[in-house]
Amino acid sequence: MTNNATRFASQINAKLNGFVPETAIILGSGLGRLAEKISQPQIIKYEDIDGFPQTSVSGHTGALIAGQISGKNVICLQGRFHLYEGHQPQVIAQVIQTLKLLGVKQLVVTNAAGSLNPDMPPGSLMLISDHINFSGKNPLIGPNDDTIGPRFPDLSNAYDVAGRDLVRRLADTNKIVLHEGVYLMVLGPNFETAAEIHAFQTLGADAVGMSTVPEVIAAAHCGIKTIGISVITNFGTGMKKTPQSHEETLEQAQKASDNLLLLVQKYLENA
Ligand code: HPA
Repeated sequence: MTNNATRFASQINAKLNGFVPETAIILGSGLGRLAEKISQPQIIKYEDIDGFPQTSVSGHTGALIAGQISGKNVICLQGRFHLYEGHQPQVIAQVIQTLKLLGVKQLVVTNAAGSLNPDMPPGSLMLISDHINFSGKNPLIGPNDDTIGPRFPDLSNAYDVAGRDLVRRLADTNKIVLHEGVYLMVLGPNFETAAEIHAFQTLGADAVGMSTVPEVIAAAHCGIKTIGISVITNFGTGMKKTPQSHEETLEQAQKASDNLLLLVQKYLENA
């Protein structure tokens, strides 16, 4: 493991009093409310972990929250690290490797995303079936530590097939409308142009966002099973008449988050 991940994990472990998280949950823009469902929460601010990266986006507070949801030991990352903030992609790998060292076996990633599909309106949930890394960056660039994972990792099951089957079944049972599709990551921070949205539709993407992909690549590399769910907050640029705004993203994320919270709770109960 990299020195940074080891350093972060030992500091976090020292604060967790023997608690071992099995599932990590990364909370996207406007989705922080899931953290309120955690019983007996232990909160560790990112700023209290020496050397740990810090977040800067509104709607993202920087803290790890450990505790139980649906009887399962979880650790939530409230506030994620975006490449557009200036973080090096390798920093994201270190954070995921820190989770692995803490004992995490599975990861649930959530995000806010723009829809590329006219039949998937704002307020929808989309289970991520696969991704297109259009960011031009990769968290695994640099020397590979073979004790963590292979130099050339396989991503054919990056969004775990069995996990997705379960999420789909749970959505059905609980009458939650769930789309499924391909998430394309752009670097950001600007929203896309209408021409870019059109190009991404042609490429076969269903949703576009500025996160998630580096986390999922790093998780696949170190053998953490992952599922991802996007909250659709807006149509892609050019698919509607009004301009894009971060405020709209946060507002729609709040609205859809009840269904997301329920789905994640049910997933944890059954996974
Ligand atoms: N584009 C990129 N990222 C996003 C969007 C979008 O339209 N909506 C929420 N995150």
